[in-house]
Amino acid sequence: MGWKQRLPFLRWSMVRMAVAMPGFLKTGQIGDGREEATARYVEANARRNDVDHVLDTIDEFAREKSMLMNVGDEKGALLDAAVRRADATLALELGTYCGYGAMRIARAAPDAKVFSVEFAAANAAIARRIWAHAGLADRITCVVGTLGDGGTTMDALAKSGFAAGTLDLLFIDHDKSAYLADLLGILERGWLHTGSIVVADNVRVPGAPKYRAYMREQQGKLFDTVEHATHVEYQTLLSDLVLESDYLGP
Ligand SMILES: C[S@@+](CC[C@H](N)C(=O)[O-])C[C@H]1O[C@@H](n2cnc3c(N)ncnc32)[C@H](O)[C@@H]1O
Repeated sequence: MGWKQRLPFLRWSMVRMAVAMPGFLKTGQIGDGREEATARYVEANARRNDVDHVLDTIDEFAREKSMLMNVGDEKGALLDAAVRRADATLALELGTYCGYGAMRIARAAPDAKVFSVEFAAANAAIARRIWAHAGLADRITCVVGTLGDGGTTMDALAKSGFAAGTLDLLFIDHDKSAYLADLLGILERGWLHTGSIVVADNVRVPGAPKYRAYMREQQGKLFDTVEHATHVEYQTLLSDLVLESDYLGP
């Protein structure tokens, strides 16, 4: 294991990321062009129509060039297993960024249609370039918006086929303070069915305490949750939590 994985705090791209956090919350980008650079790096280095190689190339970029806020390979393996267990044909991700998480979902569920909601149009454009390179453009759709916009984005999803009991897998990985409200919005629409799986990233870092408290309170009632102890993406010093929750039905 190299020093970049053991001592992530010494990486300039990690320091730059920490300093950029307030801007990131507004724009969805770090501010130094690393997201656009990711798309260029993939187009230049990853084999076309080879999802495994595109994902590996993004992991390599995040490790060797600039740290990225993807779910990453370690937590991504937890996501993959949940997607397979859900046997998903319809999946929804909240928070697209560069399109990495949605590609992992599409790879683990080869028959699924994957939708990903992203508020930053610039990120949506980058993700679409990467999905096209991976040969997944026809299976993953990015909807630019947020679930908290008063119904516009949820209505757009409804027009694309989201209806009562249709959503098999939900991956929540966007604004940590919106995790619970957006899950409740989805429950209100009745899109989950008994056996649907909800995966939430970053529950410890940066942290989604209200979401975690809700899942603890709902244990054995609406949801059955496993808390996976893991690490923040692309390093091994900082711990994180991924929550995997089975919906027990209305
Ligand atoms: C941690 S990144 C997502 C990483 C992605 N899931 C992956 O694994 O590759 C968070 C993303 O959520 C977006 N975002 C933040 N708040 C949002 C919201 N309320 N609705 C939709 N997207 C949001 C940000 O712009 C950013 O691109």
